[in-house]
Amino acid sequence: MKNKRLIVVVGIIAVFLVGMFGIEIGKRQSQPAEKQEEKVKTVGVLQFVSHPALDEIYKGIKSGLKEEGYTVGKNLKIDFQNGQADQSKLTTMSQQLEEKNPDVLIGIATPAAQALANTTKDIPILLGAITDPVAAGLVKNEEHPGGNITGVSDKAPIKAQIELALQLLPNAKTVGILYSSSEDNSKSQVEELEKVGKELGLTVKAYAVPSTNEITTTVDVMGGEVDFIYLPTDNTIASAMQTVVEQANKTKTPVIPTVDTQVEQGGLATIGINQFDLGVETGKMAAKILKGEATPETTPIFSFKTGDLIINTKQAEFLGIDIPKDILEKAKDVSTK
Ligand code: TRP
Repeated sequence: MKNKRLIVVVGIIAVFLVGMFGIEIGKRQSQPAEKQEEKVKTVGVLQFVSHPALDEIYKGIKSGLKEEGYTVGKNLKIDFQNGQADQSKLTTMSQQLEEKNPDVLIGIATPAAQALANTTKDIPILLGAITDPVAAGLVKNEEHPGGNITGVSDKAPIKAQIELALQLLPNAKTVGILYSSSEDNSKSQVEELEKVGKELGLTVKAYAVPSTNEITTTVDVMGGEVDFIYLPTDNTIASAMQTVVEQANKTKTPVIPTVDTQVEQGGLATIGINQFDLGVETGKMAAKILKGEATPETTPIFSFKTGDLIINTKQAEFLGIDIPKDILEKAKDVSTK
């Protein structure tokens, strides 16, 4: 008896639910035509790791997309993933992003872009601030990428940066470059620094670390062997910037990084490409592809050729360095006094 009653009740609920569902569908179908036409575009973003520069780039990407008419929650959906510097996470996350078949994929930093590139040859991939897209095996040619990949490069103006360092440290004879052996973006910068060193009569010593764990001891060794430390756009090093500065400060060794955010964290000075602007350019390029106005195949890689003069006067004071007046006048001081 009880069972029968239960069946009846469940039956009534079922009929009610089916009815509601029907009304819902009816409502959807009767929506005005223009609303249905505004198609939501989807963008999958894979960021290699969190550090201030990459976080700025992601902010810039959203801003660039917005400038071009794509707003999250309106006509844009962003699926964001952060690989936390873990190669196996990057691989699975790339696959997850690809399976959703987005209109465009964006890779922030070289290892993330490489993981996306290994996953799809069809979906357009935008490079968000990749040091050397050719050396990283992402495109064949910067002018004519040819495949499903294009984007923005942040190759640092290494020569200008070292010239600046020598203006601040006129007695320097040896520079040490600290980088991660697992990042393709850093290898090409070591070669470039060696070339610049020859041109400027500076001895270049390279110090590779397998992971962040070796940074403390390596910087300690560098303190006794070099006159200043140069940091390329290396993500492993950037995500441990605090450790680098703490350790370098113990031996009062100046640190010349590549970006403003790292000068702010205790670097001495640099000529730095604005990280937010890099993101904006990437976002705008993605928008062009979303609109069907461009294809990766025929869109050249966009490179930033110049940077801003950035100094940290507080750090200079700590190191006992006098900053020449002309630099002081032109530079942006990012020290937190
Ligand atoms: N160019 C780096 C890459 O290709 C990413 C990057 C952008 C970066 N800005 C940075 C790394 C600042 C260190 C610091 O992977």
